[in-house]
Amino acid sequence: MSWKTLDDMSLGGKTVMTRVDINVPVEDGRVTDATRIERIKPTIDDILKAGGKPVLLAHFGRPGGKPDPAFSLAQIKDALAETLGHPVAFCAETVGDTAKAAIAALPEGSVLLLENTRFNAGETKNDPDFAAALAALGDVYCNDAFSAAHRAHASTEGIARLLPACAGRLMQAELSALESALSKPEHPVVAVVGGAKVSTKLDLLGNLIPKVDQIVIGGGMANTFLAAQGIDVGKSLCEHDLADTAREIMARAKAANCQLILPVDVVVAWEFAANTKNETVAADACPADAMILDAGPKSVEEVGKVFAAAKTLVWNGPLGAFEIEPFNMATDAAALKAAELTRAGSLRSVAGGGDTVAALNNSGAAKDFSYISTAGGAFLEWLEGKTLPGVAALEG
Ligand code: 3PG
Repeated sequence: MSWKTLDDMSLGGKTVMTRVDINVPVEDGRVTDATRIERIKPTIDDILKAGGKPVLLAHFGRPGGKPDPAFSLAQIKDALAETLGHPVAFCAETVGDTAKAAIAALPEGSVLLLENTRFNAGETKNDPDFAAALAALGDVYCNDAFSAAHRAHASTEGIARLLPACAGRLMQAELSALESALSKPEHPVVAVVGGAKVSTKLDLLGNLIPKVDQIVIGGGMANTFLAAQGIDVGKSLCEHDLADTAREIMARAKAANCQLILPVDVVVAWEFAANTKNETVAADACPADAMILDAGPKSVEEVGKVFAAAKTLVWNGPLGAFEIEPFNMATDAAALKAAELTRAGSLRSVAGGGDTVAALNNSGAAKDFSYISTAGGAFLEWLEGKTLPGVAALEG
């Protein structure tokens, strides 16, 4: 990697345009999960320590290129100040004279938060004029938003080409964790790929097959693979039209010596509801009027054995309908096993993706994983082997 870090930049007296991802959940005006804010603190601390002025560029939601109070970053300001432990000033404009004046007036030791970059139509279009207006505000660009790096937007890509640019601490941590998990991992490497649909994970499976030793397939995706082998999955979520694709993936995996691990037993129910009547049956014995909602205990045992023999684990997607009890059982048990092996030092475990992090937090396993990415879509695109424009622009 040829990108610079904060250590390579001279920051004393400089205005540092710092792209962060504080796209955090907010309910009734309150931030309900400040994880993404906590994770940018090292970058802000280091910029301040080096005598720089951190000016935060961030998006919040998808306001569609025009101002909308529902998406104002003003509502994140207090949580930001509290979590960062520094005074935070807010400017109701993103660029222009008002933003310039707010930067000039910023007291030493404070952080300035500019209004949602997506209030400007030029942001998502990566418009050169808007990128130039952002760049005109500062001396240095620091990108600490790995989780927005899959977007080629003015504040993630365009601006990086106009100012001396570097990666922030979180960006560094994300990239090195992901590299150690897939670019130069210790083998055996096992990937958990779960979620509802195979169709959303085709690129990901294609990229992983030549790189990893085993792929545990979970969630609704597993049903499509079972059905492709001629197994009746009853009323389960299943992409029957992808049977050929699933068979082709199985053939590619076999040729690449990558073992695909499907459930050997499953938990079935007759309605998609919490605590509804359910039964554990063999994977090929789903009743015609029932649906598979989780992997069963024998499957979890198999997965545990694979984890125990592995050195590296990459996890994206739940194994079952983890959001409704008791169909979180397989995801929780497998996650706790991975956490235990990580604690014991025998496994390096990296996880990411919106649902995944929610599932691992739910099980209590997340805190023992080696690394939990803050990224949703960017983690997925990285697993798909795609170039992330925000990272590529830093490589310059
Ligand atoms: C995310 O929440 O994953 C990032 O902030 C990216 O948001 P977006 O999908 O709206 O670009």
